[in-house]
Amino acid sequence: IKKIAVLTSGGDAPGMNAAIRAVVRACTYYRIECVGVYRGYQGLIEGDFKTLSARHVSNIINKGGTILKSARSQEFKTTEGRAKAFQNLKEAGIGAIVLIGGDGTFTGGLKFIEEYNFPVVGIPGTIDNDIYGTDNTIGYDTALNTVVEVIDKIRDTASSHNRLFFIEVMGRDAGFIALNSGIGAGAEEILIPEKNLGLERLVDSLKKSKDKGKTSSIVVVSEGDKIGKNVFELADYINDNFPHYDIRVSVLGHMQRGGSPSCFDRVLASRLGVAAVEALLDRSTGVMVGITNNEVSTVGLNKAIKMNHDINEELLKVAEITSV
Ligand code: F6P
Repeated sequence: IKKIAVLTSGGDAPGMNAAIRAVVRACTYYRIECVGVYRGYQGLIEGDFKTLSARHVSNIINKGGTILKSARSQEFKTTEGRAKAFQNLKEAGIGAIVLIGGDGTFTGGLKFIEEYNFPVVGIPGTIDNDIYGTDNTIGYDTALNTVVEVIDKIRDTASSHNRLFFIEVMGRDAGFIALNSGIGAGAEEILIPEKNLGLERLVDSLKKSKDKGKTSSIVVVSEGDKIGKNVFELADYINDNFPHYDIRVSVLGHMQRGGSPSCFDRVLASRLGVAAVEALLDRSTGVMVGITNNEVSTVGLNKAIKMNHDINEELLKVAEITSV
């Protein structure tokens, strides 16, 4: 392999720039040309490429977002789109791609390998942490810290006004952000998609805490929660069934995806960027590099997106015990 392309796709995540930097610099170190692809798969289809030298990635390790931009390309989901992408890669003399993204990104990569047998290695970059085969995805730690900082602020005003707050956090189908930020910020209840605790239990829990003398409360709700109500409907339901609190709703939204990456995410991204290039040099393909028990690990892309990323039952218990 003489030329490797790198792209970021799907929802951006803090630390993606640190990963791009590590990929570019690992290529420089191993004397391979590195080509940046702009706007994810869409840029692959449109041939939006630029050769990146080690100096092109100076001063980005601390930056949120992605200098390569990101997109959720619909065209890459079509056979014609992927054919154009393959043609562009061939014309540019690119021999492999490093994909930085989450499950949508890896699904696209798998399809591409299946059709063109093109060497691909993935790096997990998503705030959701919903990827199997790595303890953490790039961006998750930063997002958690952002969420905890905001909930701390909401706690101040919740407690001054004796209010109950419902706070919706991201995590399309996964409760990692909700559960961990909820424990870290001392939430009363945490609602996650992996476990439907039911509305009765929520009412009951709020009643009990009121009886125990709590004057304000915070409920963290994952956006993917399967209770069958969105956060506003949930607040209305509680207002109707337990009208003892002045209730407010706060949807944190895309602020969770921004900001300077934590040191943890920068180190993770740097390790995975180097590991991805080394994996390609070792002729690996169709795999994702991750960190498991503090060691670099690899897992098939198909497993990374399909295997269950179970929520830790111990964490659920800790959340329950610490909110008595
Ligand atoms: O996958 C990352 C994520 O931030 C999810 O948590 C969220 O559901 C989704 O992306 C939002 O996507 P978009 O930026 O396209 O609105």
